[in-house]
Amino acid sequence: MSDAALAIKGLSKSFGGVRAITDVSLAVPEGSLTAVIGPNGAGKTTLFNLVTNLYAADSGAIDFQGRSIRGLSPGAIARLGLIRTFQSARIFPGMTARENALAGAHMHLGVATWKHMLWLNSARREERSLAAKADRLLELVGLAVFRDVAATDLPMGAQKMLEVVRALMAEPRLLLLDEPAAGLNDAETAELAALLRAVRDSGITLIVVEHNMSLVMGVADQVVVLDAGSIVAAGTPRAIQQDKRVIAAYVGSEA
Ligand SMILES: Nc1ncnc2c1ncn2[C@@H]1O[C@H](COP(=O)(O)OP(=O)(O)OP(=O)(O)O)[C@@H](O)[C@H]1O
Ligand SMILES: [Mg+2]
Repeated sequence: MSDAALAIKGLSKSFGGVRAITDVSLAVPEGSLTAVIGPNGAGKTTLFNLVTNLYAADSGAIDFQGRSIRGLSPGAIARLGLIRTFQSARIFPGMTARENALAGAHMHLGVATWKHMLWLNSARREERSLAAKADRLLELVGLAVFRDVAATDLPMGAQKMLEVVRALMAEPRLLLLDEPAAGLNDAETAELAALLRAVRDSGITLIVVEHNMSLVMGVADQVVVLDAGSIVAAGTPRAIQQDKRVIAAYVGSEA
């Protein structure tokens, strides 16, 4: 599986008696967009929490670009370029939209901090180019007008979009988005779809948990269906739409 950005094998996790993820195996090809769908409580967020090691897996293997990341700290995993967003937007309070975006890039500065403290010319140039990049991304997703507004004052849809921008500022190789379209209106969802395609076309691999089927069917290369902690189907959007088990999982969840 050398062409897989992420390869998961036999992943399992229980919370007390609840088997949230059971023997999940999944290969995500480099440069592709994989959508993970499934009813509420299917284990979608837990899958992200295991990959990023917010929760330790009970068993299984997680390889990112050919190397095991199981057991690495969430920070170390992020520094490898595996970046995620959260189901409920986690915007930094007391910062503008632009400062929130820049915060995504600053997680990488780490060892270079002394440079920034001395405010060397190279650091100043770097800071300027990061700010320009943040402004370009904010513009791209229609948030330019909110640039200097306190991020917590933004409408929910804008906060969700801002979180994606912040994640992109961290220069991900693999981006995990947990329900990025939740709270977005139709126009914002269309903007998000265009952004996701552009991100994928720039070579970044994506895994997107999403309930919005038209978004999923419009952007995904591969759709994985989770139900009660197990993968019940995986394939192209077209194949998944016609899969009886998928229809059953959704109809079942609404019953
Ligand atoms: N920290 C936790 N402690 C106990 N149980 C948990 C924990 N996190 C998740 N679970 C349980 O694991 C199962 C899967 O939850 P998860 O949040 O992964 O579902 P989901 O597919 O993301 O659902 P949704 O679509 O509602 O976001 C649920 O039964 C949930 O209650
Ligand atoms: Mg969830």
